[in-house]
Amino acid sequence: MKTITKLLAAAGLVLTLGTAPVMAAGGSVKLANDIDFSFEGIFGTFDRGQLQRGYLVYKEVCAACHSMRQLSFRNLGEPGGPEFSEDEVKALAATFEVPGEPDSDGEISDRPAIPADKFPSPFANEQAARASNSGALPPDLSLVTKSREGWHYPWYSSPFIKLVKGNGGPEYVASLLAGYQDPPSGEEQGNLSYNPYFPGNWIAMAPPLSEDQVEYADGTKATVDQMSRDVAAFMAWAAEPKMEQRKRIGFMVIIYLGVLALLMYLVKNKIWRDQH
Ligand code: HEC
Repeated sequence: MKTITKLLAAAGLVLTLGTAPVMAAGGSVKLANDIDFSFEGIFGTFDRGQLQRGYLVYKEVCAACHSMRQLSFRNLGEPGGPEFSEDEVKALAATFEVPGEPDSDGEISDRPAIPADKFPSPFANEQAARASNSGALPPDLSLVTKSREGWHYPWYSSPFIKLVKGNGGPEYVASLLAGYQDPPSGEEQGNLSYNPYFPGNWIAMAPPLSEDQVEYADGTKATVDQMSRDVAAFMAWAAEPKMEQRKRIGFMVIIYLGVLALLMYLVKNKIWRDQH
């Protein structure tokens, strides 16, 4: 009995420590809006149309400043992702330029990308990136939905809520992009824009999205909200391209263990039937 009490106390401690609210330095942080993404929950899958739209937003807007170094063009055609066709992937890759092989003089010139290439960075190096962004560095977006949390209340970041709603990273990205506001009257901070979702509230990224900035092939209206969600979903997929596979296998493993447990129970009953 004592051991059980101790175990429970330890579990309680872990839960409390693990759920301490995240407080940002230098300003209040607004909780990301709770968005019902299709990929949440134990059976959630990505919406192919949404991923394709999200790719378009990344390509036409964000790629001017942000790299996605962990992603290859061929990933865009793999199962569980936007699932562009092979020809589409080739065509999409060719719209990006990457450094080619050195020629006989050792000079490197750019060539169109192929599906095996990684998404290139828009800047030659960090210094060039900072120089174009008033000193701020646009982070690589490959894993951004994993490295940012959207839930800041203790009950929101408990492991059980996380199982259903995730860490809120995609919600954070979507809320950030659609959440720019006029600063509270009289306040101004150089080149920074006011965004209550950003820790500290002043961000070096000017509002990147405006109404009808891209034209979606499927006819969806490109509102700022819609584009923010689509590109956030695309980033959630990029951070975990094998999510659907992981969930499918996880579910099968649980079924398998369930059947195995039942068999073991029946075997145990049979063996011990006459031995009281
Ligand atoms: C003109 C350049 C530019 C464009 C275009 C741009 N960004 Fe940014 N972005 C930045 C800079 C600079 C920062 C760093 C801001 C800071 O640290 O204050 C940033 C930061 C971010 C962050 C990180 C915020 C954080 O919590 O640290 C995310 C997420 C982001 N951008 C997403 C996007 C998405 C998605 C798009 C396309 C819709 C986009 N950005 C378009 C320049 C840009």
